[in-house]
Order: sequence, then C-alpha cells, then structure tokens
Amino acid sequence: MHTPVLLKEVVELLEAGPDKKIIDTTFGEGGHSKALLAAGANVLAIDRDITQISNFKLQISKGSLILKQGNFRDIVAIAKAADFAPVDGILFDLGLSYEQLKTGGKGLSYKNMNEPLDMRLDDSCVTTAEQILRQYTEKNLAHMFMHNAEEILAAPLAKHILIQRVGQEQLTVGWLVGVVNSVAKSNPRPTLTRVFQALRVEVNNEFENLEQALKGALSLLGPKGKVAVISFHSLEDRIVKRFIREHGYIQIGKKPIFGDKGLRFERSAVLRVFHV
Ligand SMILES: C[S@@+](CC[C@H](N)C(=O)[O-])C[C@H]1O[C@@H](n2cnc3c(N)ncnc32)[C@H](O)[C@@H]1O
Repeated sequence: MHTPVLLKEVVELLEAGPDKKIIDTTFGEGGHSKALLAAGANVLAIDRDITQISNFKLQISKGSLILKQGNFRDIVAIAKAADFAPVDGILFDLGLSYEQLKTGGKGLSYKNMNEPLDMRLDDSCVTTAEQILRQYTEKNLAHMFMHNAEEILAAPLAKHILIQRVGQEQLTVGWLVGVVNSVAKSNPRPTLTRVFQALRVEVNNEFENLEQALKGALSLLGPKGKVAVISFHSLEDRIVKRFIREHGYIQIGKKPIFGDKGLRFERSAVLRVFHV
C-alpha cells in the first residue's frame, strides 16, 4: 500500500476543513484524499490511471468525494464539468504510487524484470517505452536521457541501446536492465532510476502536462486559494520553482519543505505551496 508523503503538512498548509473545496489532481491510492476528507473538506479527485480509480473503496463519513479519471493538464475542464470551482486548494503529488510500480504490469519499475516496457498511464499515450527504444535515433535517445533525467551516461547508453536492440523480439524490463548494467558497471542503481524516469516522462509527456496543469490550476483558485506541489526529482521541482518565480506568485516559506531523509519513500520529496 502507498504511504502518502508529507501528509500532515499538506492538510495543514491547504487548510483543509469543513466547507473547503480541494482538488487532489493525483489521487493515486487515495492517501491524501482520505486525509482531506477526514478534515471535512469536499474533494474532487483526479487520476490518469483508471486502475487507481477502480481499485478505490471507502466509506465516506465526512466531506464529499467526486472521483474522475483524467489528465490533470485538463484540470479546468474537469473542474468545470463537475461544477467544482472556485476552490480553496489544489494538490499535485507527482510521480507514481507504490502499487503502480509494484503490480502495475507496465514496466514502470526496473525491479520487475519480466514485464514489457509499456509505461503508458492511460490510452491517450500513443507510444510505448519499447517503441521509443526501438525507433528513436541514437541522438534522440541520448537527448531524452539527458533532458528528462540529466543522466550523464546518456550518450554511451544510447549507443549501447542501438547495438543491443538489433534482432531482439521483445524489449523487456530485464533487457533494459541488462543494457544499463553493461554501461554503468560499478554503480548501476542510480542510472537505472534515471533511465526509467526518462522513459516514463517521455511516454506520458509529464513535463508538459505539469506546465499546462499549473497554469490551469491558478485560474480555479478562490480568493485565498493555494496550490501545493510535491515533486520527486529536481527537474519537476525546477518547473514548479520557475512557474512561481515567472508569475510572481507567493511561496509559503522561503524554502520548500523537504521529505524526511530517514524515510525511503519520502526522502526525495519536495513540497512547495504557493498562492497568487
Ligand atoms: C504519487 S501518486 C499519488 C499518491 C496519492 N497522493 C496517495 O496518497 O495515494 C501519483 C499519481 O498521479 C497519477 N498521475 C500521474 N500523472 C498524472 C496526470 N497527468 N494526471 C492525473 N494523474 C496523474 C498517477 O497515476 C498516480 O496515481
């Protein structure tokens, strides 16, 4: 089961309470939504992955919940269709949930060696990770690893993929792990994390979705409304930081809030809360 990250901080900073309207744009396994509901808030929750929505079961005793499958880049249309605006708070908890990585079957984790390299979170994504690895040129693969994950071994990785993809019937997680291990020999783990991140970002268009969603989110806020974003790598956080700075929005606290370094699932988390 997924453990929600920086839960207390999110509930407090978004000031969840009775009669408050909050959009949880990344419902996942419902951890944050449950806490917002328990505080009495009315929640519109969105997730791109239909499995996350169909798996959820909860008796609601406080607040109210509307659950929608969709991409948070369409936050304005989704909120308007649900007649859920203006709102008091909007949460983005980026990345993937525990079950998606563990049992999703889409090749999102480098630990599931037999899975196909699909990585699509919904049907709107046209290209799978396997198709990218088969079709991209060496230059495009290297650019993807660098641009989506700042992987310093981007060039040798791209070169090895081009050689090793020839004659392969199926490119599985195990195949990609083998390629990475042959390039990042002494310490492959961090490279594996970044390679899988780069592919997931590419397949699901994650950076552009976030940029679009942040713009939309601000237009839905009521007078004292706030946006909270939890990101898990520096490239995501950079998008949020730049967005706040470029629009002159006000961040709560000079520094963001960092996850507990002692907790494996939380140690890379960075929370920024801001308002107009
Ligand atoms: C880290 S999990 C959220 C966990 C959740 N806060 C909880 O406590 O269970 C991130 C979720 O965001 C979803 N997601 C990723 N990109 C999305 C997007 N563009 N639109 C909507 N949901 C998205 C993923 O499918 C995943 O379920």
